Amino acid sequence: MRENPQDGHSFANPDEVVVRHLDLDWDVRFDRRTLDGSATLHVERVVEGAGAALRLDTRELSIIAVELSDDGADWTQTPFTLGEADPILGAPLEVTLSEAATQVRIAYTTSPGASGVQWLEPVQTAGKMHPFMFTQSQAIHARSWIPLQDTPGVRVTYRATVRTPPALRAVMSAANDAEMPLDGEFRFEMRQPIPSYLIALAVGDLAFRSMGARTGVYAEPSVVESAAAEFNDTEAMMAATERLYGPYRWERYDLLVLPPSFPFGGMENPRLTFATPTVIAGDKSLVALVAHELAHSWSGNLVTNATWRDFWLNEGVTVYLERRILEEVFGRTRVDMEATLDRQALDEELARLEPPDQILHIDLKGRDPDDGMNQVPYLKGELFLRLLEETVGRTRFDTFLRGYFDHFAFRSITTGDFVAYLNAHLLADDADADLAETLQIDAWLEQPGLPANAPRSVSDALTRVEQQAARWASGETAATVLETSDWTTQEWLHFLKSVPETLTAGQMAEFDEAFGFTEAGNSEVAHQWLLTAIRNHYEPAYLRLETYLVGIGRRKLIKPLYDELVKTPDGRARAEAIYERARPGYHPIAVSSIDEVVRP
Ligand code: BES
Ligand code: ZN
Repeated sequence: MRENPQDGHSFANPDEVVVRHLDLDWDVRFDRRTLDGSATLHVERVVEGAGAALRLDTRELSIIAVELSDDGADWTQTPFTLGEADPILGAPLEVTLSEAATQVRIAYTTSPGASGVQWLEPVQTAGKMHPFMFTQSQAIHARSWIPLQDTPGVRVTYRATVRTPPALRAVMSAANDAEMPLDGEFRFEMRQPIPSYLIALAVGDLAFRSMGARTGVYAEPSVVESAAAEFNDTEAMMAATERLYGPYRWERYDLLVLPPSFPFGGMENPRLTFATPTVIAGDKSLVALVAHELAHSWSGNLVTNATWRDFWLNEGVTVYLERRILEEVFGRTRVDMEATLDRQALDEELARLEPPDQILHIDLKGRDPDDGMNQVPYLKGELFLRLLEETVGRTRFDTFLRGYFDHFAFRSITTGDFVAYLNAHLLADDADADLAETLQIDAWLEQPGLPANAPRSVSDALTRVEQQAARWASGETAATVLETSDWTTQEWLHFLKSVPETLTAGQMAEFDEAFGFTEAGNSEVAHQWLLTAIRNHYEPAYLRLETYLVGIGRRKLIKPLYDELVKTPDGRARAEAIYERARPGYHPIAVSSIDEVVRP
């Protein structure tokens, strides 16, 4: 058994035999919490005559049978070996190919505990009437619901047939037809080749609202109107991104709003971004998330990290694009606020992380690639891109990025490929031969910490917020007379971060009375307030804390609250009691992160 020489997180051998297309066929069994069916892999030999063995990734799959065919009509059953399971990588599935075989059909079922699938009871949905299921494949969870070459270095097209209970709708990261009758059978086709981590499926009581010529939103019926109102700038964001970086190559861009247990803010599944309902704030204040997931249609889905070491190429470039889109649609003031808040978040993250984890081109050997998901690839990556922009000027950098997306379209690249392209197309033709040295590219990509030439952000709006916070903290001004009437979400968040960490019971009550924080409807503001409440043992917020932690499963919003709770014995007891209630409703990804905090 040998690992993939390029991607240490896959057993597959795409350098010998590569999978080009998948035909998927499943029954969605809510009663058993399984997908039952088959995956047919269309394979191509890379090395003539060599590579008679096809090695695939699996995790907790029950393999029923493997068949080979050279024409898709006649099938011959063949033996297979399922290797020993690695706790992080799962188990390799090995099949010996006959000389003429071009297709491999694997009949299998998933396990109810599959790491990439969440099964929800009706009570966990908005409508409370129907069950719901969804997949989350990034980083290496596709293998828990499809036997395949689970590496971002391989791209496939796919077709799928999905059978569901009547009245439910299935959607996938593929061409979706909102007019498909709800007759229990859905067919999909994904014509653009995509890496395995972007294959996605969801089934539930889903309605659809169009938002524009190429955009729309799927959500439960009671959520779909507010979702469409929140996200109705999506078409404008697409137009802005196309002006900057070239054509959108995926035809449609729709959003799917999931139930609140979705463990992430958003997931850029092609043609159909999956999103948490916690960004529906009523005032569009959290729609940077849409800009971010849309940006992945260029950085990530079109030009993809070849391995999880190169994850910053997906996320860092995407945060840079996200800011540019936001600037086009909402203006510079908003971007300056987001950038300033994020710089603070990055500094805090760097203070927490061990030096090896502060490196953009991170070594994740022997670790779960999900361990690399922190602010570093996102925000240090964005700062690196911004440094390039500020050094060569926006016009030149825009031209460079546009060319980069064209050049590498539908390919997967490493950090080395990026640097080579950068040197050849942005830095080489510069009269200033020292440019590469001034930039300190090696320090940015291969060293911990933040190089001294990191760009800085200034937000006048947030500086004014700091002044207000200082005036209140010094006792000069009461909360009720602070000038907060035109504050946006970002200003409220900064205000809560700018007041002293330790507050008296009286000060907490003063805030609550003046601003109603405990009842805040904005999920981010509520999160920041609850952190403050835990730190200051503010009992009037404890009920809200429990409702929040039981009702929401988005890891970024809940894990920091558990982290804060377990710092004191009382808090730990509270965390354990709340987690007992909340855990059954959380996604496996959130459970595994929060188990480490609450049940170490
Ligand atoms: N692709 C990520 C989500 C992801 C990363 C899932 C790694 C699994 C492993 C997505 O694009 C993302 O970055 N989402 C962010 C929101 C964004 C606005 C920063 C999130 O979910 O918090
Ligand atoms: Zn992202």
